[in-house]
Amino acid sequence: MNSKALIVAAIAAVTFSFSGVAMAGAKSIDLPPDGVQLKPSALPGYAKAQASCVVCHSAEYLQYQPPTAPRPYWDAMVKRMKTVFKAPIDEADMPAIVDYLAKTYGNEQPK
Ligand code: HEC
Repeated sequence: MNSKALIVAAIAAVTFSFSGVAMAGAKSIDLPPDGVQLKPSALPGYAKAQASCVVCHSAEYLQYQPPTAPRPYWDAMVKRMKTVFKAPIDEADMPAIVDYLAKTYGNEQPK
């Protein structure tokens, strides 16, 4: 076998094992088709977060943030999404989004 054939074989093996995993997942786990949704809220930041935060990734990342995280943590995160990843977030919408995040996922959640 020459090296090209080896690479083709390796790619085929990887492809097959991935489809195997996907098929097993479809049978055993019932995931919503478009990923994790943001927690609904009456806060104005909810709609803004839906418009600005789940364009690139689902709300899954937010589920794994510490519920003890204070407001400055969320503020820093929203700013990081904008500056580092170029998230299309309007400056004017940022306080409302941070408010929603702190009260929905952070330490300002209703007890
Ligand atoms: C332009 C695309 C984009 C948008 C829009 C965006 N993000 Fe992200 N976000 C990313 C990327 C890329 C990562 C992965 C960073 C990594 O792996 O370190 C990420 C990671 C995260 C994480 C995981 C923890 C972390 O710090 O890496 C959280 C939480 C998060 N984003 C929240 C938000 C929130 C809240 C918004 C809206 C204000 C938002 N994202 C908007 C691209 C985006």
